[in-house]
Amino acid sequence: MMAAAKAKGRILTGHRPTGPRHIGHLVGTLEQWAAMQDDYECFFLIADLHVLTTDYEHPGSIQQNISDVMVDWLAAGLDPKRATFVRQSALMEHAQLALLFGMLTTVSRLERVPTYKEQIQQLGLNPSLGLLTYPVLQSADILIYKANLVPVGEDQLPHIELTREIARRFNTLYGETFPEPEGLLTKTPRLPGTDNRMMHSSYGNSIRLGDTPEETAKKIMSMYTDPKRIHATDPGTVEGNPVFDYHDVFNPNKDEIEDFKKRYREGKVGDVEVKRRLAEALNAYLTPLRARRAELIKNPKEALRVLDEGTEKARPLVQATLKEVMGKMGLK
Ligand code: TRP
Repeated sequence: MMAAAKAKGRILTGHRPTGPRHIGHLVGTLEQWAAMQDDYECFFLIADLHVLTTDYEHPGSIQQNISDVMVDWLAAGLDPKRATFVRQSALMEHAQLALLFGMLTTVSRLERVPTYKEQIQQLGLNPSLGLLTYPVLQSADILIYKANLVPVGEDQLPHIELTREIARRFNTLYGETFPEPEGLLTKTPRLPGTDNRMMHSSYGNSIRLGDTPEETAKKIMSMYTDPKRIHATDPGTVEGNPVFDYHDVFNPNKDEIEDFKKRYREGKVGDVEVKRRLAEALNAYLTPLRARRAELIKNPKEALRVLDEGTEKARPLVQATLKEVMGKMGLK
């Protein structure tokens, strides 16, 4: 594509296809990715191999989830005319490169990765080799494209740090090959779930991009707020109250937000009024996305076609990097 227009470099980023996308994905990553498509050559990865690191006992939902994620991505403004979509498992070069990177990575280094430690604690599981090497596969995802920039959520930064270490180590041992990619965070702070825990598809606390305006309003009206406030005349707390976090992100009327916050602190506005306006603001915010989504779900095969087409476009590229790496590591 227009080489000059994409002079800022190359992006590789992606999601694990774990189910339909929610508004946390939208403001946490997707809007930022969509905005970068003119300035960077973008590769958007459906990391289906990574799903199996924890969910290998439930293979039945992966294909539907891939289709759902692709529809939501395109609805959010990721654009096949300006970006390339990649299905990880269809390019086993990613896994082959990860195997080779595994030679340069110690087990103790991987045992220190925070996401790994958290997963073992949370899931209480006996970790598999696949889970331990999760970030090595992610490093291969990034470096096989020789990407310079990786826009991700905060939890992913330790994986980018490992990617940089692997790139440096490889370059030192075998000669300059990979750029050291930078991680890039969004300005939007992480959006809490409607119950004020972390927003997560499996916690039942997310608002999905596919939810109708009615479903969205219902979820907002039953949202967690200041639990200490019983009557609308009680002074309320705005900080750490997800209703106000959402207003800050979705309500373009900043004067109204300030007025609500002031009256909330003084006990001069009810939760119902604040939530009702939030539901209206959020539904207005999502209207253009929903219109695109309604078109896309008429023909979900089209979203998968876009994914297949991008994958084939990426194939010669990943083959070339793998060949180069094998040669440098003394293989034929
Ligand atoms: N680990 C990422 C997540 O859970 C998904 C992912 C896989 C990824 N490979 C990647 C993100 C490469 C950025 C770059 O969200």
